[in-house]
Amino acid sequence: MQTLTTLEELRAARAKLRGTFGLVPTMGYLHVGHLSLAQRAKKECDHVGASIFVNPTQFGPTEDLAKYPRDLPRDLALLENAGVDLVWTPSPEIVYPRDFQTYVTVENVTKPLEGARRPGHFRGVTTVVAKLFNALTPDKAYFGQKDAQQVVVIKQMTRDLNFPVEIIVCPTVRESDGLALSSRNVYLNAEQRIAATVLYRALCAAKELYERGERDGSKLRAVMSELIAREPSAQLDYVSAADRETLAELERIERGALLSLAVRFGATRLIDNFVLE
Ligand code: PAJ
Repeated sequence: MQTLTTLEELRAARAKLRGTFGLVPTMGYLHVGHLSLAQRAKKECDHVGASIFVNPTQFGPTEDLAKYPRDLPRDLALLENAGVDLVWTPSPEIVYPRDFQTYVTVENVTKPLEGARRPGHFRGVTTVVAKLFNALTPDKAYFGQKDAQQVVVIKQMTRDLNFPVEIIVCPTVRESDGLALSSRNVYLNAEQRIAATVLYRALCAAKELYERGERDGSKLRAVMSELIAREPSAQLDYVSAADRETLAELERIERGALLSLAVRFGATRLIDNFVLE
């Protein structure tokens, strides 16, 4: 596995690879969820590249950029073991040189949900992903369903800017008790870790209601917020039952929906979602 830092080194290494190339963008501190993307890419592409870059532009001023967990040696060993051919680990100065002034902004689908609570977040995500697509020129790029709105936003950007990249969405990997794997789970104390299963439990309860025939969006949102309210250490940020493409809240569910929610445990904010077909 080749580990590259500068853009020049990366481009030279990438140019030598023949055949299809799959990209797995990450911010590091890798877990089995990230590795599932690399494994899928490995199956579908001749070569696999990953990026590890804690992208400052997607963090708000009060968010966890400085204390975002990092362990590069461990990440590199995990990627090597997963059969990744090439890893790009640029510094912030390489991605955002001193006179950097160009950003990619996706309009409508960045407005609700995460976009409403994290102003500028998706502008940072789309800008860095566009740069990764330009630097690594993948045929396919792999993203997790865990970040459902991110997937919608990146698909929109890819279409709108004609990136010749196929976006592949991989299922959310969970702990045995249902908690979605996240680099931020390490912030939870023992009590919060137990309470954190409430995201999964709330999604299951809403899905069950839907499967029993409930089509009123507000009823599905209510069952999720009630479960969160019963968990003393959990503070609800939002619950949503939205259109899978526009992300607009649904009153009646006619063509499936994206159930999603964000919940705080102290300073740690967790998100999760289910797709209702
Ligand atoms: P990061 O949070 O490191 O996640 C990297 C990729 O792993 C994302 O596509 C995310 O959806 C996926 N992922 C995270 N947890 C997962 C899980 N439990 N199951 C399946 N996939 C999971 O998302 C980002 O980084 C950044 O926004 C990035 C796209 C790299 C741009 O900076």
